[in-house]
Formats: sequence, C-alpha cells, structure tokens
Amino acid sequence: MTMLLWWAGVGYLIGSVPFGILVARVMGLGNLREIGSGNIGATNVLRTGNKPAAALTLLLDGGKGVVAVLLARAYGSGDLYLIAGLAAMIGHCYPVWLRFAGGKGVATFLGIVLAMHFPVGAGCCIAWLAGAFATRISSMGALVAAAAGIPLAWVLDGGKTAFYVALMAAIVFWRHRANIARIRAGTEPKIGQKS
Ligand code: G3P
Repeated sequence: MTMLLWWAGVGYLIGSVPFGILVARVMGLGNLREIGSGNIGATNVLRTGNKPAAALTLLLDGGKGVVAVLLARAYGSGDLYLIAGLAAMIGHCYPVWLRFAGGKGVATFLGIVLAMHFPVGAGCCIAWLAGAFATRISSMGALVAAAAGIPLAWVLDGGKTAFYVALMAAIVFWRHRANIARIRAGTEPKIGQKS
C-alpha cells in the first residue's frame, strides 16, 4: 500500500509539470491561457505560430509520461508502473499547481502507453496521425487514439493494461468535452488555425 501511494505520488508530480505553459513563457510566446483555446498542450502552443515550441511541448509532455512509467518499472515492483502512468495522466490533467485545471492529456497519454507497452503505444500514435490528418482536427486525432488504445491493449497485452488504458481514455474524452461539442457543431478549428 505504501509503495502504491509512493508511485502514485511520484507519477502525479511528474505528470503535473505544465510544460506547455513553461515552454511558452521561456520562449517569450506569452501566457498560453490567453492564447487560442487556453489549453496547455502542444496543439495550443502551435497556435502561437511557433512550431519548434509546439514540438518541444509535445516531446516534453509525452516524455514525462514515459519517465513516470519507466521509473516505476525500474524501481517499483509488479504492476506499480500502471499506477504511476495513470497518476501521471491525472497529474497532467489536474495539476495542483494550476488549481487542478490542467491539460487534455493527449501527448502524456501517448507517452504513458508507449512506455507501458510499445506496440500499443505505437498503434495509438498511428491512430492519432490517421484521425488528425484525415480531418485536420487535432482533437479528433486525440479521440481516435484514445479509443483505439483500448482494443489494442486488450489484444496485444491483456485485460489489465486495457483497463488502465480505458481509464486514461475516459479522462481524454472527459477533458475533450468542449472539443466534442465543437466537432458536433462543425466549429472545431483545424490544426494550426489560430482559434
Ligand atoms: O491536445 C489537445 C487537443 O486534442 C485539443 O487541444 O487546444 O484544440 O483544445 P485544443
């Protein structure tokens, strides 16, 4: 129980680092909260027009998911890496530093799943690319990737991984409520569009 709480805490703290906000601030792009959708993810950083900053945010947000899982894999026992990954996801979406108003979890989800089971993560990345490039809508890629992760995990790594991927996919869908409403209304901006 102590180890479970420890790795949940470690995962949460790693996931809670709001790299989008930090990258935007350090690179002089302004307050991400006042740009585009106000989200702290790479898609919104891209709305500043700075592609390297968006790529860096994507890498760092994905990377923290990878680090949380791999640390628990290396130093924790058994399935604690699954807990650390889920906690990192919660940390990104509900960081204490931003009064629990964080991001939508897509890059972090991809990083976590890549580290949990590489083929499942790779499948999710391909699903993201397919969804996003087919529609030119980033959130569509996110929703397709999250949904695809569940059957992929089930088939390639079994029910336990699928259960954790399903929990994280549910968070992705919940955090995209406004995007889903805009997609249904036909008003969701295309990739790179300012707002
Ligand atoms: O990664 C988040 C993306 O799916 C949607 O972001 O800024 O368009 O709400 P945004």
